[in-house]
Amino acid sequence: MTGLSYFENAYSESADPWNLVSEYEQRKYTLTLASLPRQSYASAFEPGCSIGVLTGLLAQRCERIIATDGVAAPLQEVAGRAPSAEVGVGTIPADWPAGSFDLIVLSEVMYYLTAADRRHVLERARDSLLRSGHLLVVHWRHSFEEAECDGDVVHAEVTEFATEVGWSRLVHHVETDFRLEVFGCDAT
Ligand SMILES: C[S@@+](CC[C@H](N)C(=O)[O-])C[C@H]1O[C@@H](n2cnc3c(N)ncnc32)[C@H](O)[C@@H]1O
Repeated sequence: MTGLSYFENAYSESADPWNLVSEYEQRKYTLTLASLPRQSYASAFEPGCSIGVLTGLLAQRCERIIATDGVAAPLQEVAGRAPSAEVGVGTIPADWPAGSFDLIVLSEVMYYLTAADRRHVLERARDSLLRSGHLLVVHWRHSFEEAECDGDVVHAEVTEFATEVGWSRLVHHVETDFRLEVFGCDAT
């Protein structure tokens, strides 16, 4: 797993190390939100939320959203973007919140985890995702130094896991830089 010190250093140098307010990210978030099969969700979990740009958008569609990050620094900004979000420090897969969710969002976080931890994350998602729920996964496709693997590897693993546990792939969007998929048992 990419050590948390890497992220702590990144946040000590910049409040927004990945420029999550960029046009590229805004367009990706628009596609992310448009890909959700349902207009509203009762209870969502978004690990690796960073400064909460996506959290703020998701919160408008979710009655309840839990947003966590392995690093505390960016979380101070989440309340301003998503006042209703329940925000806390937490590292996946270890700090998976109790309860069930009808939406789990893994956005640009899985490639930082080891293969074993990625598998644990998917197992925890399987255990906490309601039958009516959706798992949304979106990742940058290219290799980069800090990542354990690229986004295509992450999505291939999720697709294989989905087959194993009987989830259907409801959305499949691939472009040069990122890949976005939604899995679930039900289409609506
Ligand atoms: C590239 S940012 C993604 C932000 C957000 N998910 C998005 O798509 O806009 C990655 C974030 O994941 C966090 N992170 C990395 N590994 C993590 C882990 N194992 N558990 C929780 N958060 C983690 C980092 O601290 C960082 O804030």
